[in-house]
Amino acid sequence: MQIRNFRPDDAETLVKILKANQQYGHPEIDGPEAMQRVHDCQAAEFLVAEDENEVVGMVRGTYDGSRAVIYLASVHPAHQRQGIGRSLVLEIARRFRARGAGSISVIVPGDAGFWKKLGFRQTTRVMQAFPIDEVLDSA
Ligand SMILES: CC(C)(COP(=O)(O)OP(=O)(O)OC[C@H]1O[C@@H](n2cnc3c(N)ncnc32)[C@H](O)[C@@H]1OP(=O)(O)O)[C@@H](O)C(=O)NCCC(=O)NCCS
Repeated sequence: MQIRNFRPDDAETLVKILKANQQYGHPEIDGPEAMQRVHDCQAAEFLVAEDENEVVGMVRGTYDGSRAVIYLASVHPAHQRQGIGRSLVLEIARRFRARGAGSISVIVPGDAGFWKKLGFRQTTRVMQAFPIDEVLDSA
């Protein structure tokens, strides 16, 4: 198994993985065009795991010079519980630390068991305005 940077031609496979994990509710946020934008973003780390030349998982997040945040992690159901998720998170954490990050957070929509195993502790709650107009129209 190998961890490497995302390439745009990984997008189609990643969409299949996200769909298989019920993580593809918002293609405008997580689809191929958004993946391309993340790929182009200087603050982002976007990694994939490859097993026998097959892309089987991904993780992405940003470090803005102050805080590192993981936004999305996904491993194909047929490849879960084999250490791939851990390898992805360890590599993105190494990269964020190399950029200067002193902490790392994750946005977890569901079960937190995996993240607890990797040393994350629950602190703040995440609040979301979706669509963003909820904020713009609130005045
Ligand atoms: C969460 C996810 C990324 C974990 O990937 P994975 O490759 O299965 O995880 P690993 O095999 O590296 O597991 C690392 C450790 O966490 C544990 N673990 C994995 N999933 C777990 C869960 N849901 N609950 C509790 N522990 C879990 C493993 O048993 C392992 O512990 P061990 O080293 O003591 O055996 C993967 O299950 C997934 O894609 N799930 C669906 C999408 C999702 O929930 N993503 C996270 C939110 S962004």
